[in-house]
Amino acid sequence: MEVGPGRGTLMDDILRTIKKYPMADAIDAIYMVEASSHLRKVQKNLLCGADAQVSESKVGCHSICKHTEIPIVWTPTIESIPKDPKKMPFIVAHEFFDALPIHAFQAVEVRPNQDTAKQTVNGSSETPSTGTTTPPPTNGNGKPSIQWREMLVSPVPGQPKIDQPTPEPEFQMSLAKYPTRHSRYLPDSHPRFRNLKNIPNAIVEICPDASLFAADFAARIGGSAKHPKSVPSGAALILDYGTTDTVPINSLRGIRQHRHVSPFSEPGLVDLSVDVDFTAVADSAIQASKGVEVHGPVDQSEFLIRMAIRERAEQLMRTASPERARDIEKSYKRLVDRGPSGMGKIYKALAILPENGGTGHRLDSEETSPVSVPSKARSQSMTKENYWSASHQAMPVQLEEPITNKGPDPDLDF
Ligand SMILES: C[S@@+](CC[C@H](N)C(=O)[O-])C[C@H]1O[C@@H](n2cnc3c(N)ncnc32)[C@H](O)[C@@H]1O
Repeated sequence: MEVGPGRGTLMDDILRTIKKYPMADAIDAIYMVEASSHLRKVQKNLLCGADAQVSESKVGCHSICKHTEIPIVWTPTIESIPKDPKKMPFIVAHEFFDALPIHAFQAVEVRPNQDTAKQTVNGSSETPSTGTTTPPPTNGNGKPSIQWREMLVSPVPGQPKIDQPTPEPEFQMSLAKYPTRHSRYLPDSHPRFRNLKNIPNAIVEICPDASLFAADFAARIGGSAKHPKSVPSGAALILDYGTTDTVPINSLRGIRQHRHVSPFSEPGLVDLSVDVDFTAVADSAIQASKGVEVHGPVDQSEFLIRMAIRERAEQLMRTASPERARDIEKSYKRLVDRGPSGMGKIYKALAILPENGGTGHRLDSEETSPVSVPSKARSQSMTKENYWSASHQAMPVQLEEPITNKGPDPDLDF
């Protein structure tokens, strides 16, 4: 299964490679979870061919892989794929979690009856007009209290100049005047975020969908109360950029034609991306299933080097033309570059695996959980000094909730 397969090139590479090995015969089906109907079509054309026939079922749209003749199923939502305890699911998510929506909150001092939204995040003095907020309760004793306020996207006042080479953003982010539905519970739902509330102006970014996807992967691999699995099996590999053990802040960015642009410019044309909170992903997985363990995150460079990228590149270079060999070397070095903004450093890999190698033997104690969070971070108490080094603690996720609740997709067909 791949979630968020984009143009389908990773799955194409996987299937082209896997067909050389006997294990290809053991694959029942490939599932592609893709929200965009346009991209589902692009993926189907690449993996099956533009003329390949398509049929429909309750799960999604089916066609046949041109490399392996394995059935491929497209679905916009992961929950329509049945959780079968007899199956051994292998799940890959490459640059998927960074595309999921976040909620951002700031801890602000509120005096009784004070209007807290004097400033927008980007410095202007507008307040968002939103119908989703309600006035905060006063604390009665006249003293200021610290409350979470959600950062909301609001239109830039006036007429934005959009018909120019570098269009001005039409939207901006501003602090909600009053508590919102999400600010009332999300930032207080977990000690990693809750402990930051007393730090003036602390910001947290929270991605509930990332937790739900991680919990879904874990339930498929290790079983859950609702979907018990006697022997955990399979694996999930998550590759993305994000923080190892700190809570992401101010990470929303826009990318258009390989350039960083305002996330609020040209809505619909700009790719949006945020840092993935890998600790939250790991927590959600181990909370969702007793049958899994989580490894990582580790830097992409470490992951790829341990997977023998150097040996593979050298092998390819031996039989390549000098020009091609130079390209291979350049690409390989770019992937493992550990410079401050190198791909080898900012991209991370995290794996969700059957607990104890899938032997069925369970470690129930949290103390023995193999989540690779640095022991230093575990023992830190939350102070101003280690503000951005939020410690690892269990996250109360709701198990088996649907990942999204979009209802039937009228656009499911190609
Ligand atoms: C940044 S792209 C990554 C594409 C590809 N994996 C790659 O690495 O090039 C994110 C992908 O996730 C899909 N996507 C975003 N949110 C989704 C969701 N909630 N459910 C399914 N697919 C989603 C997008 O349509 C897109 O295909």
